[in-house]
Amino acid sequence: MTVNFSNVAIVGAGAMGRGIAQMAAQAGSEVWLVDSMTGAAERAKVTLTEQWGKLHDKGKIEATERDALIARVHAVATTRDLAHCDLVIEAIIEDLEVKRQLFRELEDIVAPSAVLATNTSSLSVTAIGKALGKPERFAGFHFFNPVPLMKVVEVVAGFRTAADVCSRLAGFAVQMGHKAVQTKDTPGFIVNHAGRAYNTEALRIASEGVADFATIDRILRDQAGFRLGPFELLDLTGLDVSHPVMESIYRQYYEEPRYRPSAIAAQRVAAGVLGRKSAEGFYRYPDGVMQVAA
Ligand code: NAI
Repeated sequence: MTVNFSNVAIVGAGAMGRGIAQMAAQAGSEVWLVDSMTGAAERAKVTLTEQWGKLHDKGKIEATERDALIARVHAVATTRDLAHCDLVIEAIIEDLEVKRQLFRELEDIVAPSAVLATNTSSLSVTAIGKALGKPERFAGFHFFNPVPLMKVVEVVAGFRTAADVCSRLAGFAVQMGHKAVQTKDTPGFIVNHAGRAYNTEALRIASEGVADFATIDRILRDQAGFRLGPFELLDLTGLDVSHPVMESIYRQYYEEPRYRPSAIAAQRVAAGVLGRKSAEGFYRYPDGVMQVAA
């Protein structure tokens, strides 16, 4: 099987970029990682090397496959090193102007036939694409965290995105072992729009004093059949990521009251109580083990 994109650039080698890099390499693409923070792309490659090493130790991949995967990932210094790539996936900070600036720069570097994609979770794909001379080759390619485990990706068509760009991305998602869901460019796309009913509403239930975090989680997890309760999920994602998404969707829906973000979340972000990453969220995680918050 020929992979849809043979040279895939990933700009932003953080949590998402690293996961996308893993799946792209496993699909058979050469992967080119770049990050504005010195050493971040190299660190991402080290983490991937360790992960494939663990898969080999568990007998899930052969040594030759492990070595081939590692050899397929390249950490490069600047976006100028991406000229030969046929797909660029951006996974940098969630900031419209910074993303626009990056894509303007990329458009001058890669070939006119290259596809450009953003992993944004809450910004308008159309608004980012407005910065481009050729917005028809630009789409949303929205993965979920952690990428290797969350096997779905939203392929988002902006106002000017060409249909064949979405089809090629959807095909590539399948080659990466994911399910592709095609969606129009609306605030939150499908998953983060539907997610308002899960986490924004759960925060409202808690703020009204109806039940505590653990009770709400227990009911939705054990009785309603969700894998994680809303507060467990918020702790996993991190409020520094999910609260700005809530704010962005609220703004984009013209301050529709049902999407109003929660003061509980805002206060926790201000206090740095973000979830697992800060060892304390709605639950406490001393040594990475979950305890119900006091
Ligand atoms: P992260 O903070 O782990 O990684 C972002 C990386 O981008 C950092 O290494 C940073 O140094 C780098 N960076 C920032 N500005 C840059 C620039 N101008 N050029 C090159 N590199 C730059 O963030 P994370 O969680 O990986 O998120 C990245 C993107 O993915 C955001 O747009 C976010 O909204 C989206 N996203 C995040 C999800 C999550 O649950 N974390 C889920 C789905 C999408």
